[in-house]
Amino acid sequence: MIYPIAAYGSAVLKKRAAEIQPDHPGLKQLIADMFETMYESAGVGLAAPQISKPIRLFVIDATPFKDEEPSLDGFKKVFINPKIVEETGEKWNFNEGCLSIPGIREDVSRNPVVVMNYLDQEFNEIQETFTGLAARVIQHEYDHLEGVLFTDRLSALKRQLLKGKLNDISRGKVDVDYRMKFPNLR
Ligand code: NI
Repeated sequence: MIYPIAAYGSAVLKKRAAEIQPDHPGLKQLIADMFETMYESAGVGLAAPQISKPIRLFVIDATPFKDEEPSLDGFKKVFINPKIVEETGEKWNFNEGCLSIPGIREDVSRNPVVVMNYLDQEFNEIQETFTGLAARVIQHEYDHLEGVLFTDRLSALKRQLLKGKLNDISRGKVDVDYRMKFPNLR
């Protein structure tokens, strides 16, 4: 099943998501649906709050970045109840986008190395270090679980400049080729 993506301005995108238990109802199907929804909208990551489910779960498939980083070919993972253990290295800029904020891309500064503690789809506890674009995608999706969007990480000036466009997105005044749920549709 393909879910509509919650657009900028949706309350669910601003709140901290809750941890889930292994017996979370329909979890396997939900994860499959999240991958399907992500592929349908050509994203490299999707967090559960983006389909209006405020739980600590995100999926990624960084294969589209394989030309930049060959190791990302087939780099597909599920993160349940993830925690950032540490982020290190000198911050670097990367032009980020987000399925909830179509048509806007901005440089965001983040650390290049992230150590994650998380559960995989079988609830195995894993500690793993990610670098480069893999780290970038994971940091972006993790932010969604904390109620943070990449636009929250921009300068006040930059946010001010984007205000009109962001308001338009929340009202559904945006060209997008996948299904969305707009909070201020009229
Ligand atoms: Ni996003």
